[in-house]
Amino acid sequence: MFVRRLVLHSTCLTLEGNEFSMDKMCALQKTLLAFCLFASAMASPIETDVALQAVAQGAQLFSVNFIKTVGAEQKEQENNLISSPLSAHIALSMASEGAAGTTEAQFREVLNLPSKSQSLIGFQNLIGILNNVENVTLKLANKLFIGEGFPVKSQYKQDLQTYYYSDIASVDFSQNVNAANIINTWCKEKTNNRIESIVEPGDLSPSLALVLANAVYFKGNWANQFDPKATTDRPFHVNANTVKQVPTMYRKGNYKYVELPEHKAKCIELPYANSEISMVIVLPDEVDGLGALINNLEQVSTECNVRLARSYEREVKLYLPKFKTESTLNLGDTLSKKLGLPEPFSNSANFNGISDVPVKIDKVIQKAFIEVNEEGSEAAAVTVLFLAESAFIQMDTVVSIDRPFYYAIVKSVNTHVQTKPHDIITLFSGYVIEPIIN
Ligand SMILES: *[C@@H]1O[C@H](CO)[C@@H](O)[C@H](O)[C@H]1NC(C)=O
Repeated sequence: MFVRRLVLHSTCLTLEGNEFSMDKMCALQKTLLAFCLFASAMASPIETDVALQAVAQGAQLFSVNFIKTVGAEQKEQENNLISSPLSAHIALSMASEGAAGTTEAQFREVLNLPSKSQSLIGFQNLIGILNNVENVTLKLANKLFIGEGFPVKSQYKQDLQTYYYSDIASVDFSQNVNAANIINTWCKEKTNNRIESIVEPGDLSPSLALVLANAVYFKGNWANQFDPKATTDRPFHVNANTVKQVPTMYRKGNYKYVELPEHKAKCIELPYANSEISMVIVLPDEVDGLGALINNLEQVSTECNVRLARSYEREVKLYLPKFKTESTLNLGDTLSKKLGLPEPFSNSANFNGISDVPVKIDKVIQKAFIEVNEEGSEAAAVTVLFLAESAFIQMDTVVSIDRPFYYAIVKSVNTHVQTKPHDIITLFSGYVIEPIIN
């Protein structure tokens, strides 16, 4: 049986402060908790849906921008890429909830967030939905690590706990080996041991105020599994001059598939065992077409998702290489210099909602992992369905993923107030330049 698998990843965001004072807000917590629960209970189902939709659409807008920017930067290094724009979006949104003034305005614009009250309710619902998906494993976890003695406002802690389902722990950053160990153990646990560490002791120092961490883990089987007996080595065009033989899975079956000649690309959707989650692969027509595709990703991915949503399945002979990728991204410069968030990283950062002590964002680190593979016995994944030929004489549609390609794992988010057939959210995305399986 084929097991297609998983992905995971994690983003840690660290905030740095310069002073310490005693924490003394514990007594206030219960009162504020009651208030928050009350505020949350006030939202009607329609308001909740509107907030969810606003946050989901904001996350998706950010995602496309994020992967385009990160993708273009990484492409210069000619490595495979896996990232989770959603994870970055959530970690940054957690920071934004404590921002004020122009710092907050920058966050709201770049993250495409609605008003503060809407975004809190929207995230509460989004995270609730993502942690409650049947037939596949999808886990999203948030955590706030606070430097021992650093005074964090209790309203902020309550907001993270209530709306982001965030755990909160106090850590002594001056004991940096031990502190790194605590954070890495959390990462490891939340990603099913797939990401062993996210911070080095050297990343942590006594001036650190807090670390905001988000982890996303996904593991799911394809709705239609590949037969391992059909996997063979086939040529993959790494670039115009290099061809490598790589283990390539094969399946003949029904898929949603569209051609975008105007973008010189094709898209195919591979659903997982939960029909709301799928992998969308965008294959450039040209062997060296990935760079142009990434440059044009807003248009290509929008067009691709819209057209796939409208199309019907058709029989396709699909060749897909197995692959495994891990990426570590230091996102500080990308976010501050290219994505429009300079202020949160500067000395004029205003995180007044987090603490009266001035803090700024120091580092944003993301590590992500994906493995797409098969294993197991000759289980009966023989698909009889397609043997019957209809009266139509159809040309074979062969989709051979045999050159560098882009992929995204997306989930549809349906609400009662939707205006489009589906809002989707990108859980993971990346590209493969050369399929590597170990
Ligand atoms: C989960 O799996 C069951 C059994 O295969 C299927 O009937 C159901 O539609 C699946 N759920 C989703 C959301 O795809």
